[in-house]
Amino acid sequence: MQINNSVAVITGAASGIGEAAAKALAAMGAKVVMADMDAVKLQGVTTAIEAEGNSVACKVCDVTDENSVRELMQFAIDRFGSLNIVLACAGIIRDSFLITPDRETGKVKKFMSTGQWKQVIDVNLTGVFITLREAAIQMTNHRFPGVLIPISSINKSGELGQLNYASTKAAIALWPKILAGEFHARGITNIRVAAIAPGYVETPMLTSIDPEILGKIVADIPLGRLVKTDEIMSTVRFIVENEAVHGTTLEVSGGIIGKGLAK
Ligand SMILES: NC(=O)c1ccc[n+]([C@@H]2O[C@H](COP(=O)([O-])OP(=O)(O)OC[C@H]3O[C@@H](n4cnc5c(N)ncnc54)[C@H](O)[C@@H]3O)[C@@H](O)[C@H]2O)c1
Repeated sequence: MQINNSVAVITGAASGIGEAAAKALAAMGAKVVMADMDAVKLQGVTTAIEAEGNSVACKVCDVTDENSVRELMQFAIDRFGSLNIVLACAGIIRDSFLITPDRETGKVKKFMSTGQWKQVIDVNLTGVFITLREAAIQMTNHRFPGVLIPISSINKSGELGQLNYASTKAAIALWPKILAGEFHARGITNIRVAAIAPGYVETPMLTSIDPEILGKIVADIPLGRLVKTDEIMSTVRFIVENEAVHGTTLEVSGGIIGKGLAK
């Protein structure tokens, strides 16, 4: 699929990977609809893209709310007349070990709360499910050529303190295979699915963490540095432009493997 003149919807577009993708796709000639819960940041990025003279619109959207996502897809079609690329970037972390005992007493003093568990499942799993489903409904009903790109993570292989997050990312890594098979079984030939599993990417989600911990993370990356948002974007471009990429999850990690399995 050509990026020029395509219509791209990006969730989580106000920051990090989503923001970089919105700017890059718009610069390549896509008509971009940016969606995020953070209205202020969303408007800021939209204004910056408009200032470059590129086609962009934005909509405040909570990916956990199916009406909100349904309205988002309809908004893209009403505004730009199609729906072709859907990049599901909205995601959160709420890290905690399952249980942490007190060093002196040996009794459990902290644990991952049900709220921490559910928030991550709601946004990273149910939110992406709703996003892909609503996009696929529109692409099928209108016969738009489409490509769905959910964002997994290299921590799909396991990471300490991320029982919730890693569970969502492992699940998403399976979806392209399942959906490619389902679409094939139902005679849907106009939609491809390919996920990206980034390693540690230089975004606010990461650069805001304790510099000491960040140093340890970087020391474990064979590439010797964090992945850049541009490198995720060039993978998005590869997926969109190469029609043989379907039913797969591409790792872009600088060589790192999930620590939970490595240690
Ligand atoms: N940064 C990394 O190192 C890294 C690595 C692997 C995977 N990822 C994944 O990539 C995706 C983007 O990460 P990022 O680093 O750009 O994060 P980020 O925190 O910079 O951006 C995430 C965006 O999602 C938005 N968001 C959160 N909840 C939402 C909701 N319910 N509805 C709509 N928008 C919502 C936030 O407002 C924010 O703008 C996430 O799924 C993340 O898990 C990131």
